[in-house]
Amino acid sequence: MHTLDYNDMPHRRMGKSGLWVSEVGLGLWKWGDPSYDGSRVGDHSGFRILDRALELGITHWDTANSYNQGSGNSERLLGRYLKSRGSRARGQIVLATKVANSVRDEHEMQRAFTPNERGGSRVYVLRAVEDSLRRLQTDYIDVLYHHSPALLPDGSNETPLDEMWDAFNMLVTQGKVRYLAVSNRTRKQLKTESEALLTVSANPSRRIVGVQNWYNLLQRAKVTALKDDPTLDDEQAFLDYLTESGIGLIPYVPLAVGLLTGRYHKGSFDTSGRLYEEAWRDEFITDRNLALVEELEVIASERGCTLAQLAIAWLLSHDIVCSVIAGVTKMEHLEDNAQAAAVTLSEEELARIEQITAS
Ligand SMILES: NC(=O)c1ccc[n+]([C@@H]2O[C@H](COP(=O)([O-])OP(=O)(O)OC[C@H]3O[C@@H](n4cnc5c(N)ncnc54)[C@H](OP(=O)(O)O)[C@@H]3O)[C@@H](O)[C@H]2O)c1
Repeated sequence: MHTLDYNDMPHRRMGKSGLWVSEVGLGLWKWGDPSYDGSRVGDHSGFRILDRALELGITHWDTANSYNQGSGNSERLLGRYLKSRGSRARGQIVLATKVANSVRDEHEMQRAFTPNERGGSRVYVLRAVEDSLRRLQTDYIDVLYHHSPALLPDGSNETPLDEMWDAFNMLVTQGKVRYLAVSNRTRKQLKTESEALLTVSANPSRRIVGVQNWYNLLQRAKVTALKDDPTLDDEQAFLDYLTESGIGLIPYVPLAVGLLTGRYHKGSFDTSGRLYEEAWRDEFITDRNLALVEELEVIASERGCTLAQLAIAWLLSHDIVCSVIAGVTKMEHLEDNAQAAAVTLSEEELARIEQITAS
């Protein structure tokens, strides 16, 4: 696998595409307007973190139209940043966003949405991208994800897949989007959707270049995105499929919302942490996970790195992982996570980690 450096940060290609993304990326889910959308980062601290990210070579920035809590404010914050920093910063950043969810207007607190204000239909996708471009104050998106499959209760797609992929393909033709990607997809869905894209464009460079799925050291099986019958696939089969098809993996929740940073231990939790606040904390803070964290901390300490760096370096030990978009809400997180790119785990360390965490 080849890498190219910018400000000492290695960049990898996203799948088989020509797009290079920083090994350590930036997740902007909890960014927006802390006064009303539940986010943790606003303009004041956010702009400083974004400036520093570029200095550290962290060029891959990940948001979504619905961040945060359907407000669209993560994109708006980024839009204000891009406007303020100008075209040089825009050219340096790989800007990734996602559509599929509904988004309120600015300062709107609550409202109902029609079925065409979400999902994957042509009418929704084209409008959602126009709205994102407006919020982001840019005229193109580098990576456009379809956020989550839009399924009816019987499991069938709400939108014919050829219609959805025709809309995505059209956006590339129009120059509004550079690369196409998906999130929260199983192997079967990736295969079906890649085929649907081929039916609307014979141009093989219009392929799905990346998939963003849940994946971290404590929850490895999540990468398959299978909910109902996990026996239908496994972690390695999923990774092998991505390698064969040239689809890059962008793991989300790479630090298990902070659990893989050593801030949560049996009997001593960082109660100011996001994980502590989340409704889903019981899924993360289990006896098994707390015990694994202690064992992983031993390996990190022997290695002389932080637990967060170990967790990111382990993800990057998979060639198919192109970028790890750790969520950052403080400057010190960014400084810490950036150093993960310099940690190359040895065969022996990887074997120890495998022994501890393979489920
Ligand atoms: N495609 C999807 O459906 C999907 C879903 C979820 C997320 N995502 C993307 O993935 C990104 C990452 O996921 P995530 O933010 O939910 O989880 P994460 O990266 O696993 O954890 C981020 C949290 O960990 C803590 N943290 C990060 N670095 C730290 C460090 N070095 N030391 C101590 N604490 C540190 C911070 O917690 P505190 O804020 O508590 O300090 C931060 O909010 C998101 O921002 C988003 O872009 C995508």
